[in-house]
Amino acid sequence: MHKPILFLLLVHIILTLVPGATAKVSAIIVFGDSSVDSGNNNQLSTLLKSNFQPYGRDFYGGKPTGRFCNGRIPPDFISEAFGLKPAVPAYLDPMYNISDFVDGVNFASAGTGYDSATSDVLSVIPFMRELEYYKEYQSKLKAHVGDEKAKEITSEALYLLSLGTNDFLENYYTMPDRRKLYELGARKISLGGLPPMGCLPLERTADFFRGQGGECNENYNRVALNFNSKLSGLVKNLNQELSGIKVVLSNPYNILKQIVHKPSLYGFEVAGIACCSSGLFEMSYMCDRLNPFTCTDADKYVFWDSFHPSQKTNKIVSDYVIKNALHVFL
Ligand SMILES: *[C@@H]1O[C@H](CO)[C@@H](O)[C@H](O)[C@H]1NC(C)=O
Repeated sequence: MHKPILFLLLVHIILTLVPGATAKVSAIIVFGDSSVDSGNNNQLSTLLKSNFQPYGRDFYGGKPTGRFCNGRIPPDFISEAFGLKPAVPAYLDPMYNISDFVDGVNFASAGTGYDSATSDVLSVIPFMRELEYYKEYQSKLKAHVGDEKAKEITSEALYLLSLGTNDFLENYYTMPDRRKLYELGARKISLGGLPPMGCLPLERTADFFRGQGGECNENYNRVALNFNSKLSGLVKNLNQELSGIKVVLSNPYNILKQIVHKPSLYGFEVAGIACCSSGLFEMSYMCDRLNPFTCTDADKYVFWDSFHPSQKTNKIVSDYVIKNALHVFL
């Protein structure tokens, strides 16, 4: 056996034996929009759904869950990397109950508004609603595992927030209860940055006649860069303001830009259009299984539908943010 491996094994055994030495992150708790929804939107009346094929065709059992992807999304990969379950269940999914949510729960919802690059529609309101569900979850957790244990779980959990609009940012500063999540016990928090939105197939200057996506829209990319730099300032402030808190910025911008510009470096063949349907503008109901143009191998595509990355891209981006930001919690 190689020495470094032996060493790691010893460390592992010691950590396992030391009383109270538990996994550093007890659970993954997710808030956000369609980029991280794992099925809460199914339970809401909304036009933005994805609980039908071909969504989920590369997920466990080929099941369409409500994830806006052919397979898993970043919170799933992050949960797995922290030694927790490989898919974080949606809080509102009737298939699950509190015993499934002890080490991970997803409150994200694509349910309100259409979260495109340009419309900052009501993004704060679903977040507040998600917080209400989170409070309900805390009570259920207490009833299920006891007060002490529930407190331990929620204070050692990693909170992933992915709310990609300026509206959220501006309101975060002005909302009277902006520290609500902190007051509710969250201490390890990741704020998700925006991707290069101008490179999403939907936002490209599409060339319909050639049936291909055009150039990235640099105006939208600037919006994302600007958002991310403000978010970075917010992260600094929060770390200074709130004692005992650790906030990091999980920024997917650079890695996604690189994937889009050099797709072949990452094993992709197509970056300009999405796998689903024509790949130019379809998502949700317009991306259904009756569409004859949907690609057969989503791993060759950077984007699954016109607004959301494929599972393979999600895995690469997740590995990147774990290595560059979330590793402090590992
Ligand atoms: C959760 O559901 C499982 C079956 O799916 C059941 O066995 C269990 O008792 C339920 N737990 C609670 C706390 O309701």
